Amino acid sequence: MNTRRTLTLIAGGALALTASACATETTTTESGANVVADGKLTVCTSLPYEPFEFKEGNDVVGFDMSLIDEIAKANGLEKAVEITGFEGIQSGQALNSGVCDVAAAGMTITDARAEVIDFSDPYFEATQALMTQDPNIKSLEDLSGKTLGVMSGTTGELYAKDNAPDDVELKSFEDLGLQTQAISNGQVDAIIQDNGPLLDYAKGNDKVQVTAEFDTGEAYGFAVKKDGNDVLLKSINDTLAKIKSDGTYDKIYEQWFGTAPEQG
Ligand code: ARG
Repeated sequence: MNTRRTLTLIAGGALALTASACATETTTTESGANVVADGKLTVCTSLPYEPFEFKEGNDVVGFDMSLIDEIAKANGLEKAVEITGFEGIQSGQALNSGVCDVAAAGMTITDARAEVIDFSDPYFEATQALMTQDPNIKSLEDLSGKTLGVMSGTTGELYAKDNAPDDVELKSFEDLGLQTQAISNGQVDAIIQDNGPLLDYAKGNDKVQVTAEFDTGEAYGFAVKKDGNDVLLKSINDTLAKIKSDGTYDKIYEQWFGTAPEQG
C-alpha cells in the first residue's frame, strides 16, 4: 500500500516534469514575443465570469476577450482560448508551465501574485460586493451566525477571511457559476465576489440583489509568465494605452457593460 503510493508519486512527478519541459517550448513572432503556439496568442481564462469571460454558443466572449482580440491583432496573431481553473491562473502554474501566453481572467493585481506572474498595466477597477436574497443583510456583520459563499483563490475569499466575524461560516466554491447557484437556491445566506459580475447577475435575477460594496480598490491586470515575456508584456501595455486613447476601449466597455466608463 505504502510502496504503491510512493511509486505513483514518482511516476506522477516524472510525468509532470516531462509535460512542463515540452510545454515551455515557444516560437517567436515577428515582433519578438514568445508564444506557445505558432501564429497564435493563447489566452488562459476561467469561466464563467460574465461579462468578462463567458460562453456564447461555442465561443468564449466578454470584455476581457475583446481586449485580448485587440492585443492579438496588434501582434499579427490569432486568439486561441484555453479554459483553465482560476487557481492555476493566479498561482502562475498555467503561465509558467506554458499552457498559454497571457492570462485574462478579471484578475486583480496583488503583490503576492506579482511574485509569481508579471502583470500588465491595470485595465479595469473593481471592488468586492455582497449578494443576498435577504435585503436586510447589508454587511459582513449582518452575516453573524450565517453562511457566506466564497470563490476559492480569489481576492473575495481573502477579504472575507480577513474581515468577516469569526462566527460567519465560509463555504468555498470553485467558480462564480456555483456561487450564484448557491445564493439563488438558498444554499448560503450571501456570496462575496467582484462587483462587476455580481451586478451583472443581479440585473437578470429578481430573487437576489447586491446589498453592499466594500471599497477594496482593486485593479485588474492581464498577466504573462514571470520574467519570461517582456516583449509581449510591453505590447500588451502599448495596446492598452493605444485603445484607451483612440476610443476603442470605451467602445468595448459599452458593448459589455451597456454604459460608457466613468471618467475618473
Ligand atoms: N478579481 C478576483 C481575483 O482576482 C476574482 C477573479 C475571478 N476571475 C474569474 N475569471 N473567475 O481574485
